[in-house]
Amino acid sequence: MIFRTISDLQAQVVAWKAEGATIGLTPTMGALHDGHLSLVKRACEQCDRVIVSIFVNPTQFNNAADLETYPRSENRDVALLDRVDAVFVPSITEMYPEGFVSNVRVGGLSERLEGAHRPGHFDGMATVVMKLFNISKADIAFFGEKDWQQLQIVRRMVKDFNHSIRIEGCVTLREADGLAMSSRNRRLGENARRRAPALYSAMQKVADAVRSGAERDVALDVGIQILRDSGFESIDYLDVCEATTLTPAEKSGASLRVLAAAWLDGVRLIDNLVV
Ligand code: PAF
Repeated sequence: MIFRTISDLQAQVVAWKAEGATIGLTPTMGALHDGHLSLVKRACEQCDRVIVSIFVNPTQFNNAADLETYPRSENRDVALLDRVDAVFVPSITEMYPEGFVSNVRVGGLSERLEGAHRPGHFDGMATVVMKLFNISKADIAFFGEKDWQQLQIVRRMVKDFNHSIRIEGCVTLREADGLAMSSRNRRLGENARRRAPALYSAMQKVADAVRSGAERDVALDVGIQILRDSGFESIDYLDVCEATTLTPAEKSGASLRVLAAAWLDGVRLIDNLVV
């Protein structure tokens, strides 16, 4: 069933809670792919009732052209969600009515990596996610590890605000050639699509080098070279970080993650990998 207003969804949530049902939430911006559907599947396995939100959140876009061209396919998305109990598709004014001025900011974590290249992105993301948590009263929310930094920020926010929701991180789904599934992949031309898996290969080489004891800078140089050779126009970042705080890795042995964002054919791709 489709819900377009907060009040309608809230009334449904009250009824489900009265039945003692557990509620799962999968927040999305639509343009669904198998990665999203794997989160939905997990939610259906673990919760009595499942809500999927589809909302291209304008406040997390720091670039008007990116917001404009973000893929949208509501009818197709809704058809793919036939097994969920509620698809929440609010309008922008429903989520941000006149007079809306509040903002959720998760300090530190939001400033690094993606945050340094997309100012305000994580404030917009955290604000809308907090609203979705409060509207849905979900017991569990499902997020993809593809957006690793987002996942860490959401976990931190839930902890800092003593929210009772449980956050489940779900592994990144990849195409057969290693490219992480993403709604933005649709924008890649044929030639760029063939070269795009180099992002995954570059991260793998960096992770291998760190594991075999290479200095961080030496390991990163290997990855940077692969991206350049594969025709990536520019690299926003390629780094090895402590997995939770996302501070640059000082020593091996800690729980580490390689994170990358780079441009190919005018499309910004991001990905990450455990070391
Ligand atoms: O990951 C996304 O698609 C978005 O950042 C989210 C979590 C749906 C918030 O708009």
